[in-house]
Amino acid sequence: MQTADARRAFASDNNAGVHPAVLAAIADANAGHVAGYGDDPYTERATAAIRRLVGDDAQVFFAFNGTGANVIALAAALRPHQAVICPQFAHLNVDEGGAFERFAGAKLIDVPVHHGKLTPDDVERQMHGIGDPHHVQPAAISISQSTEVGTVYAISELGALGDVARKHGLLFHVDGARIANAAAALGGDLRAMLVETGVDVFTFGGTKNGLLFGEAVVFTRPHPAAALLPFVRKQGMQLASKMRFVAAQFEALLADGLWLENAAHANRMARRLAAHLARIRGVRLAYSVDANGVFVQVPRAAIAPLQVSRRFYVWDDEASVVRWMCSFDTTEDDVDDFAAAIDREVRPLSR
Ligand SMILES: Cc1ncc(COP(=O)(O)O)c(C=O)c1O
Repeated sequence: MQTADARRAFASDNNAGVHPAVLAAIADANAGHVAGYGDDPYTERATAAIRRLVGDDAQVFFAFNGTGANVIALAAALRPHQAVICPQFAHLNVDEGGAFERFAGAKLIDVPVHHGKLTPDDVERQMHGIGDPHHVQPAAISISQSTEVGTVYAISELGALGDVARKHGLLFHVDGARIANAAAALGGDLRAMLVETGVDVFTFGGTKNGLLFGEAVVFTRPHPAAALLPFVRKQGMQLASKMRFVAAQFEALLADGLWLENAAHANRMARRLAAHLARIRGVRLAYSVDANGVFVQVPRAAIAPLQVSRRFYVWDDEASVVRWMCSFDTTEDDVDDFAAAIDREVRPLSR
């Protein structure tokens, strides 16, 4: 079993702890009795805080985790003969253990993409066999913002996906496990990023941005699936009875822009790491560093020695690409020390 390492590693932004303001909010919420299941003032205030960012029409449902939030959002919108078009390496497709397939009983149409991004052409290519009962019927698109490879869809790219979704009557779902990182990269305006571009439903990730746990499913406007969500959330075991403790965390995260501050810091640390890497011969960025993930092709022989001191994942074994994630608590010293360690391992291999 691994022991806790006081040094911060680069394996995942969910390896970080809880932001002190969030932890304090949990303690503060631990007073007296309030109604369970979300009928409480904390949930009301946290919902209002999300509506202030997204608009008064937003329908907000708090959930325990990112997998559950994705699955219930899509399951509420889909029938079993329908399908979701998504990038091949969507978390929904490769990292959720088949939860969507089991729970929604529907199909994922996963398509190869460049830079982690689905395009309108990718969607158009899947729009065939419509009305044919032998063919699964596409009913939604799902993307991650930021993407699984640390890139961020520009607002124009989201708008183009919104247009193609509307053209074909597809639900537009955004996995926002790292929505704050994307928002920080794009200027912080969730409405411009998610409402004006035609997104129907997104998940608002908290866990990777300083919460102990907690995500929200947010419909940007009234939608038939939003009316079903309370039932699907309950059946999907994502309804917290002590909801106040999820909501209180969101309240703390959304107060005074902490969500953006945390995310912008993580993004800045990723850019700092990328800047160091640009000076190290023998390593190459595999994707542009738009948010808090740094994907790097490194000499294969350097990977295991680097992993001895700091945990991280290999993203693409064949291409020798590793994934280094920064979080809200990554420090400049963490980054500088890690970059020095990379330099020490890689330099002798790239002469
Ligand atoms: C893009 C993305 N979506 C969803 C999730 C799922 O989150 P959870 O582990 O809370 O189920 C993750 C977690 O790594 C993720 O990276």
